[in-house]
Amino acid sequence: MYLDMSSDRVDFTWMIKNAVVPRPIAWVSTVSATGVGNLAPYSYFALVTMDPPMLMVSFTGRKDTLDNIRETGDFVVNLVTEGSAGTQTDTAAVVPPEIDEAELLGLRTVAGTAVRAPRLAGAKAALECRAVEEKAMPGTTLVFAEVVAIHVDDGVLDERGRIDIAAYRPVGRLGGALYTTVAESYRIPVPAAADVLAGKRSVELAGSHADRTTGVPVTDLR
Ligand SMILES: Cc1cc2nc3c(=O)[nH]c(=O)nc-3n(C[C@H](O)[C@H](O)[C@H](O)COP(=O)(O)O)c2cc1C
Repeated sequence: MYLDMSSDRVDFTWMIKNAVVPRPIAWVSTVSATGVGNLAPYSYFALVTMDPPMLMVSFTGRKDTLDNIRETGDFVVNLVTEGSAGTQTDTAAVVPPEIDEAELLGLRTVAGTAVRAPRLAGAKAALECRAVEEKAMPGTTLVFAEVVAIHVDDGVLDERGRIDIAAYRPVGRLGGALYTTVAESYRIPVPAAADVLAGKRSVELAGSHADRTTGVPVTDLR
C-alpha cells in the first residue's frame, strides 16, 4: 500500500501513527499560576537530544497543560508503566481547568524538586522539565524543554543503578486505544567499523543469530 498527501487524510495520518510505534506516553503534571494542578497524557512526545537532555511535547488545540506551562515555565513528564495505563487514559477526559485530574482520581502527587510542577508519587520515572521554546505549527504547538532532573523508583534499578527494563515495564501507545507493555529486551551492541568492513555483523558478534522478537534469522530480513 502507498499513501501520500493526496490520499484520504484520516487513512494517511492513521497509517503513520500505527506505523511509528510504540510511542512513549508523557503523563504531564503541571500547576497553574494560581496553584491548580493538572494531569494529562501526551503521546506526540519525544526525547530529542541527549546532552543537554531535551524533549518535545505536541499540543493540538487549547490544552490546560499548555496554558500551565506558559504560566509557570515548567512541567513534569511522568512515564507511564504497567498498571497505570488505564488511569492515564482517565486523565485524558476533558474536564474544566479548575479540576485537578490527579486529585479527582485520588492520585498522590509530591512537590517538584527543581520545578514548581508536582510529580506523581507512584511514577517509576519522572522528568522535571523547564520549557525552553515554543514552535507554532498549524493547529498545534510544540514545546521544547530541558530535562533538569529525574526521579527514578529504586525498585526498578539493577545492581549497577541503571533501569532494569523487566522491572520498569514501560507502556507505549500503538495508535488509538491500543497499548503495549515492554517486558523483554535484547542487546545488540554497535560493532566496530573494522568488524563491519571485515564482513562481521553485530548479531554474530553478539553471539545471537536471530531477532528474538520474531525468531526470524536476521539475514532473512534484508
Ligand atoms: C494516550 C494519549 C495520548 C495523547 N496524546 C496527545 C498528544 O500528544 N497531543 C494532544 O494534544 N493531545 C493528546 N491526547 C489528548 C489529551 O490527553 C486530552 O486532550 C486531555 O484532555 C488534555 O488535557 P489538558 O487540557 O488537561 O491538558 C492524548 C490522549 C491519550 C489518551
